[in-house]
Amino acid sequence: NISCLEKRSQRLFTWCFLQQIDPLIYDEQLLWVGGGAGEVNTYRIPLLTFTSHGSLLAFAEARKHSSGDVGAKFIAVRRSEDKGATWSPTSFVVDDGSLVDGLNLGSVVVDEQKGSVMLIYSLCFHLYQCSPSSTMLVESLDDGQTWSPPRNLSVQLGVKSFAPGPGFGLQKRYPPAKGRLVVCGHGTIEGDGVFCILSDDHGQTWRNGAALKSIPYNQPKKSLDFNPDECQPVELQDGSIVINVRNQNNYHCRCRMVVRSLDGGETLPVEELVFDYTLVDPVVAAGALQKDGVLYFSNPANSHQRINMTLRWSLTDGRSWVNEALQIWQGPSGYSSMTALVGNSVEDKKYVFVIYEKGHKSSVETISVAKIHLYGGR
Ligand SMILES: *[C@@H]1O[C@H](CO)[C@@H](O)[C@H](O)[C@H]1NC(C)=O
Ligand SMILES: *[C@@H]1O[C@H](CO)[C@@H](O)[C@H](O)[C@H]1NC(C)=O
Repeated sequence: NISCLEKRSQRLFTWCFLQQIDPLIYDEQLLWVGGGAGEVNTYRIPLLTFTSHGSLLAFAEARKHSSGDVGAKFIAVRRSEDKGATWSPTSFVVDDGSLVDGLNLGSVVVDEQKGSVMLIYSLCFHLYQCSPSSTMLVESLDDGQTWSPPRNLSVQLGVKSFAPGPGFGLQKRYPPAKGRLVVCGHGTIEGDGVFCILSDDHGQTWRNGAALKSIPYNQPKKSLDFNPDECQPVELQDGSIVINVRNQNNYHCRCRMVVRSLDGGETLPVEELVFDYTLVDPVVAAGALQKDGVLYFSNPANSHQRINMTLRWSLTDGRSWVNEALQIWQGPSGYSSMTALVGNSVEDKKYVFVIYEKGHKSSVETISVAKIHLYGGR
């Protein structure tokens, strides 16, 4: 038995630290509750990010008239400046008016070098009584307090139905392509697949990067076809990008697909595609996060139903998962997304935050954020 306090070497210290991971819910708060008398019918598609100023920003689609994916919406935001203890009242970042096929979230991406937060979303994604679909961006330079008018990225990218995330995009911290912004998402149901867009100038210009296309591409799908869909990229400490992907048609397993880019999001070689049988999944958007060398994963861990929101962790970059898992909510639970503060304080090392759809009868009743203590409250 080696005491973790005997700091014999950095490696040993890190190893010791990792063995102590024993997550516990430290605090949980409902950020949004739908079905009220107000302007919003349903809140869905929660996103969560740190900022370079040490705040947390939570976003969700505020669906005005129904719980459906199509329809008019706001993008709702709440901010926390005290590490998730209290949250600002809701404000709306974007209002799409009365569009029949309105906005859909989305990816949030922080440029730590520039100190900005960008939110990328789609308009008319479903091409329902509208055309074409557009990829839009709003940016905040003041820690999420005020936002720029929407900018149309389709002018640079070309018109295509592209649904970013849902989750976060990343800024590369390690080579190759250090500093690059990488945002991944998926296409329409027929032209589906994982697609990444890249920016090497802090979000001024964007181009199309890696693609992992569905088979048969641009053709109607059958059950069990290869159909990569909603996804969450994370950068590992070796500079590769691992993308955890929704397996829309249950190809090969009722579990997650994982694909890796070794060139900063330019390509997703089919040789780098694996199926993670441990990550059983009911076909949903899931959360992933790399923090201090540990890979975290959140989803409703059930092969058929959106129930059992669970946090898993891996000390081997996802090649294996620690047997113990933390059940966050046993009942209905859907989409989830994760973040962690990136400061160097002991406090910032101790927690990860999971935002997720949570309910009693249905997973779309509320949006909740759980602050998770990684070391069992120690
Ligand atoms: C965005 O730009 C594309 C390409 O120029 C255009 O077809 C589309 O109508 C624009 N969308 C919006 C909402 O302005
Ligand atoms: C919940 O997830 C855990 C961990 O994956 C699993 O062992 C358990 O069977 C799941 N329960 C249900 C009801 O899906």
